[in-house]
Amino acid sequence: MKLAPSILAADLAAIHEAIAQCEAGGADLVHVDVMDGHFVPNLTFGPPMVAALHRRTKLPLDVHLMVANPERLLDNYLEAGASWVSVHVEATPHLDRLAQRIRQAGGRAGAVLNPATPVSMVEDCLPALDYVLVMSVNPGFGGQTFIPRSESKVRAVRALLDRAGNRDAPIEIDGGIDVHNVARVVAAGATMIVAGSAIFHTPDPERATRELKAAALAAAPIASR
Ligand code: DX5
Ligand code: ZN
Repeated sequence: MKLAPSILAADLAAIHEAIAQCEAGGADLVHVDVMDGHFVPNLTFGPPMVAALHRRTKLPLDVHLMVANPERLLDNYLEAGASWVSVHVEATPHLDRLAQRIRQAGGRAGAVLNPATPVSMVEDCLPALDYVLVMSVNPGFGGQTFIPRSESKVRAVRALLDRAGNRDAPIEIDGGIDVHNVARVVAAGATMIVAGSAIFHTPDPERATRELKAAALAAAPIASR
């Protein structure tokens, strides 16, 4: 079970404090939402920001690329220090090639499914993938409401991964996760939890990190704790 706080929800002018708080609370990764103003209607972090974060924390950076033409930008993010990198299946006709490139650079390769995208879109690429990210909101903004159907989608991805022999491949869930719904998605098979508002829009992000991770762990089968 891994918890990846999304720094999109943090005070970006005090990012070092946000990192220190979630590190102290037991975060396993730092989730970095890269948005390009094309694939999603919002604009966020370029490779220099990822490099700065990489210098600031020992936690692995989980870089979620919400960009059109990810093939054009991928190498820059890998060189900046991204270690888990996920690409939207809707954004590229070359998922298999990009996943191989991520692995060749020493990273873990993930594929992301939007709420409207069927799970079958990742099926033929599973041997090249280390994890699958299920979006539980439409990508582009933090602070949105969890889409309940995502729970059955996690189950469907779990079944697909198990059938393909990828029993240990993590499923990441991203969007609207909080201490109230985390148990449901973990019970469905999610093993990497992203949370932005539920951590950084609280008075005590360190405590929120600790409590969310404890709730996720409590809901996990012993094997995936
Ligand atoms: C949405 C991003 C999410 C978002 C999560 O496009 O991919 O990672 O920051 O934020 P919350 O937890 O606030 O929904
Ligand atoms: Zn994200």
